[in-house]
Amino acid sequence: MLKIGLLGAGRIGRVHAINIVGNGRSQLAAVSDVNEVAARSLADAYGAKATSSEAILSDASIDAVLIATSTDTHSDMIEKATAAGKAVLCEKPVDLSLERAQRCLDAVIKTNVPVMIGFNRRFDPNFSAIKASIASGEIGKPELLSITSFDPAPPPVAYVKVSGGLFRDMMIHDFDMANFLMGDLPKTVHAAGTSIVDPEIGKAGDVDTAVVTLTYADGRIAVIKNSRRAVYGYDQRVEVLGSEGLLSAGNVLENTVSKATKQGVISAKPEFFFLERYMRAYAAEWDAFVAAILDGAAIPVSLKDGVAALALAEAATASAKSGQTVSLA
Ligand SMILES: NC(=O)c1ccc[n+]([C@@H]2O[C@H](COP(=O)([O-])OP(=O)(O)OC[C@H]3O[C@@H](n4cnc5c(N)ncnc54)[C@H](O)[C@@H]3O)[C@@H](O)[C@H]2O)c1
Repeated sequence: MLKIGLLGAGRIGRVHAINIVGNGRSQLAAVSDVNEVAARSLADAYGAKATSSEAILSDASIDAVLIATSTDTHSDMIEKATAAGKAVLCEKPVDLSLERAQRCLDAVIKTNVPVMIGFNRRFDPNFSAIKASIASGEIGKPELLSITSFDPAPPPVAYVKVSGGLFRDMMIHDFDMANFLMGDLPKTVHAAGTSIVDPEIGKAGDVDTAVVTLTYADGRIAVIKNSRRAVYGYDQRVEVLGSEGLLSAGNVLENTVSKATKQGVISAKPEFFFLERYMRAYAAEWDAFVAAILDGAAIPVSLKDGVAALALAEAATASAKSGQTVSLA
């Protein structure tokens, strides 16, 4: 049984708590949050102890920590946890700063302690089936990847201000998906961004609508489209054109009823947002982490993967600002 300390009892911390308890081979031992009420209420719900992050990291009976605190704490928490010998699953992104994330990676490599980054979409049944199909060569060589990722509604401007911006906070998932599906890192990044949904987001220095083109050394291309507003729900689609065929994964709908009348054919909306659409993915992500630690399976999403995605986010942020294509080292 893997004994777990959960750092962060907010939105995503509460989802992870359900999966830690539901796994069967992991136990939620302790919860910490600077908001003590949040920590206590989550700990009480699962018979865990509410305590400080420091107490969790110095507790020899705790095997691993799940870091679900605010983004600006991630690198520090990863370094402290690995220095204390705790295996880590940390939420995305690794940090707001690529330079800080790289230093974190350098520090963690020296400890040899396993760290996984929470790119949950790799564990979505649709996207993992696309990956499996590519890996088995069913569509030949993937040549043109298209990722659509639209949120139902923009977050509050207060959140935007501390999020690191759309490319680090939101498109980071799509950068990782591109790295995952293309099996390579791009050589150039070109971004266009605008704040057409909410001008306040623009005043805060961010964009809410963006398109990024990635080009690869062997001539392949990926296109990622993000918007903070899709009035019909959470739009999450992937299409891969390969030399021998096409793979595409559509949205998961709220129900499968299709209504056909003289007016036309109507189906349900896509599941509303990430807490609905990716519930199965978060559970599978946690199961993969537990299997990696207890059975010695490979860590499926490494800290290096997290830093690679952040490098693309940083390049896209710079490109959207300058209008220039950014070449990656
Ligand atoms: N993978 C995903 O799909 C996904 C979805 C949502 C959020 N996230 C990521 O998870 C992280 C948390 O997001 P959220 O939406 O749950 O935010 P949130 O604000 O709801 O929760 C964060 C919690 O961390 C606590 N916290 C902040 N600093 C702390 C510290 N130093 N020590 C202990 N607790 C601290 C806050 O009090 C808060 O309760 C972010 O990095 C975000 O990018 C990932």
